[in-house]
Amino acid sequence: MSSANLPEELKAFLQASSTRVESRIQQALNTPIDGSEKLFEAMRYAALGPGKRLRPALVYACAQVFRGVDFDLAYCDSTAAALECIHAYSLVHDDLPAMDDDDLRRGRPTCHIAYDEATAILAGDALQTQAFELLLAEPLAPQLQLHLMRELATAAGARGMVAGQAIDLNSVDQTLTLDQLEPMHRLKTGALICASARMGALLGGAGERGLEIITRYAQAIGLAFQVQDDILDITAETAVLGKTQGADALRNKPTYVSLLGVDGARDKLAKLHAQAAQALQSLDGDTLLLQQLADYIVQRGH
Ligand code: IPE
Ligand code: IPE
Ligand code: MG
Ligand code: MG
Ligand code: MG
Repeated sequence: MSSANLPEELKAFLQASSTRVESRIQQALNTPIDGSEKLFEAMRYAALGPGKRLRPALVYACAQVFRGVDFDLAYCDSTAAALECIHAYSLVHDDLPAMDDDDLRRGRPTCHIAYDEATAILAGDALQTQAFELLLAEPLAPQLQLHLMRELATAAGARGMVAGQAIDLNSVDQTLTLDQLEPMHRLKTGALICASARMGALLGGAGERGLEIITRYAQAIGLAFQVQDDILDITAETAVLGKTQGADALRNKPTYVSLLGVDGARDKLAKLHAQAAQALQSLDGDTLLLQQLADYIVQRGH
């Protein structure tokens, strides 16, 4: 699915949420102190480059499902920006020579190629702490603010995304079983996607039951997201993908495709898509947008 084929409502929502979050990130990154201009330039390069802004879209959509369409999305801007800063940092570090060693990202040189390795490491470090500054910048109820910070810290750290990345790097040249691959994918990619949805739901005032349903939905699309990433690595051309086609196979990474083949990975994707749709059936309110986001995640072409 290219962005030209998206349903109109979804296209408009993605556009609006990208504009909102980019403006919040711009605002956060426009005040370098003397001597740190290159660092800030690299941070903006990484955080404001041509990405899909999917995690911010999930924040806004999961808040809106509880609050209704008249909800003022501005309430979510800092949280959405925080999620995108963590995501951008994770990509900068993921591409480093010591990690996946990639030189192309979003159709442009990766951060360490456009700048240099030390600047890329520092830009990633700084984007990570910037995320928590963003969460602190919002005048929210203290209880909610603490809850959001705990969600983000846990999802991004050594019991979440970073654990997944560590397992990923330790798995190069190994054949994992599906029982080993799935938790790795749930951590390295699913955890932050799940946190985006849960943090949106918290901002929307979701109760325990609502949060539990959103979590089931987000766990399904979070894993689906990485399964589709593995499929696209093989099936999408570099020019469309904006990343080098075949990079996983080249580095001998265990993926859903290396374990199950493209067709087996597509079957897994379809099952996860169905699980997400099933979770949404239990949710009151207008879930069309969340369903369309799930469709987009499994059908996207880059
Ligand atoms: C790519 O994420 C990295 C993974 C977690 C698989 P995205 O596909 O969301 O990257 P951008 O932000 O759109 O470039
Ligand atoms: C990335 O997984 C996960 C994180 C950045 C946390 P990949 O290594 O598969 O992502 P791409 O394919 O380089 O975007
Ligand atoms: Mg990686
Ligand atoms: Mg990578
Ligand atoms: Mg990948």
